[in-house]
Amino acid sequence: MAIELLDVVVPFHFRYARSADEFAAIHAQGVNLVLWRREQEPGLGGLVDAFSSDHDIDVKAVLQCGEPEVWMFLSDLPSCGARDMLAADIDFLVRRFGAITGAAAACVHLETVQTDACRLFHVDAAALRMLVTYSGFGTQWVTNDNVRRNELTAKGRSFEAANRAIVPRPAQIRSARPWWVMLQKGESYPGNAGNGVVHRSPPLEQAGGRRLRLCIDEVKR
Ligand SMILES: [Fe+2]
Repeated sequence: MAIELLDVVVPFHFRYARSADEFAAIHAQGVNLVLWRREQEPGLGGLVDAFSSDHDIDVKAVLQCGEPEVWMFLSDLPSCGARDMLAADIDFLVRRFGAITGAAAACVHLETVQTDACRLFHVDAAALRMLVTYSGFGTQWVTNDNVRRNELTAKGRSFEAANRAIVPRPAQIRSARPWWVMLQKGESYPGNAGNGVVHRSPPLEQAGGRRLRLCIDEVKR
């Protein structure tokens, strides 16, 4: 008897993208996270690490996705190879974000983060958000089967106590690495209420006190 080979599709709510071309997977029903686990060449990543440790950065603007003018966006930062790398990457990602969301413009924020104010596991209200940590520890997230959604929000508890209630298996918390691109789907994405990806900033003791993070958001209408 012939054996029929089937493509087994595992209905994971997150997807790994092999390239930026696969971000569109975020639109699939039930998917709430697409991760592009790209690697940076260590020497080049080290340039950005040094740049990050030397400068407090906080630049935020609404950019046109079709022509982001990122050089202008970063023009107050000192001219160097690290700034050029960041500019090229942000230009690429803003264009991608526009292609995925269909939005003409995006709110882009590149900032040095030295707190873990968002260390409570939470869902975002935003529909789609793109995150990259260029230096330091990346955003942490958990799979849907490791979340008790009825425990979300602090409910008067310490963040530590709330996190223990929200995430039953803390050993299975996942962390993005530098340069990985996270495309997150939040609660306000049509049809995704109750399925926003659960995530948080890495705790301060892990973050080493300093990160350089890019956040690309849809512009609120
Ligand atoms: Fe968040």
